[in-house]
Amino acid sequence: MIAPIRACVADEFQQVNALIIEQLQSDVAMVENVGHYIVDAGGKRLRPLLALLAASAQGGITPQDIKFAAVVEFIHTATLLHDDVVDLSTLRRGRATANAEFGNAPSVLVGDFIYTRAFQLMVSLGSLALLESMADTTNTIAAGEVLQLMRAGDPSVTESQYLDVIDRKTAALFAAACRGSAILRQHDPVQQEQMGSFGRHLGIAFQMVDDVLDYTGDPEITGKQVGDDLNEGKPTLPLIYTMSSGSADDAAIVRDALAQKDSSNLGGVIAAVRRSGGIEYTRQQAVNHQQSALSALADLPQSPALEALQSLAGMAIDRER
Ligand code: IPE
Ligand code: IPE
Ligand code: MG
Ligand code: MG
Repeated sequence: MIAPIRACVADEFQQVNALIIEQLQSDVAMVENVGHYIVDAGGKRLRPLLALLAASAQGGITPQDIKFAAVVEFIHTATLLHDDVVDLSTLRRGRATANAEFGNAPSVLVGDFIYTRAFQLMVSLGSLALLESMADTTNTIAAGEVLQLMRAGDPSVTESQYLDVIDRKTAALFAAACRGSAILRQHDPVQQEQMGSFGRHLGIAFQMVDDVLDYTGDPEITGKQVGDDLNEGKPTLPLIYTMSSGSADDAAIVRDALAQKDSSNLGGVIAAVRRSGGIEYTRQQAVNHQQSALSALADLPQSPALEALQSLAGMAIDRER
């Protein structure tokens, strides 16, 4: 599904992938072991793809854009290494997580290596404005993960508090990926904001669908375990909706499991969420954000890259992995 979207930036995408591998190099063996372990497992590479398509839709991809796309994937990779430690996750990209394979300490430390390598690469781009955007973004992601941690197991979390968390932990990087090419071209703040807004709404939609897949997904396809969020007591939208709009019994099933961070009744929770329309509601909210994302592209001229960005917005919703 993603292959035709990649087609219009295929060469540049290959260059990004090569740069990612090249930049994993270190004289410390464990850095390369853990780094290659997660990078070689692939992943969708959605964020660098967004960065390339955004650049292309704004007039053409430069070597700067390629470097920036690699930076974005590095930041994403570092957050995944850290996130799987925090979430106690055991499966990622269809294989054991780095923390399960190597332990927590190497995952955290190699995550730091990859984070800081991203900043080294960024410095070499020579744009203080871009550096500011990415420093703010990574700081926002970190704050979002901490905020989420503080609210784990709290059934009183509201939809707007949930939105705040996903805006920071996920949408901020999508926004930055799309905004980067506008910053590098020194486009005016309105144009930068339009690209950022596309990414931000897309990121929110993407995370909402991720939160649905955490209950309904097939691990063979997502490459991740089902029920991780419940185990961590994450008050995600399918649960929030069930607690606020489901029957008293269904609300209680969800509230208890969430408060106890207990996924032993995962089947019961999934049934309660389905009965209450929590899956449908979350998907609908994701579609609303997809629409907002598309409107943010209104001023861009027609091009294959623009069409690819529009398709990608659809794919963020209609995806199984
Ligand atoms: C996982 O992101 C983290 C979330 C924001 C849900 P992806 O689903 O893009 O992960 P990979 O890179 O394809 O593995
Ligand atoms: C992803 O949150 C956000 C970041 C990695 C910063 P999740 O915890 O929902 O992502 P998955 O489901 O582990 O990929
Ligand atoms: Mg996680
Ligand atoms: Mg998730």
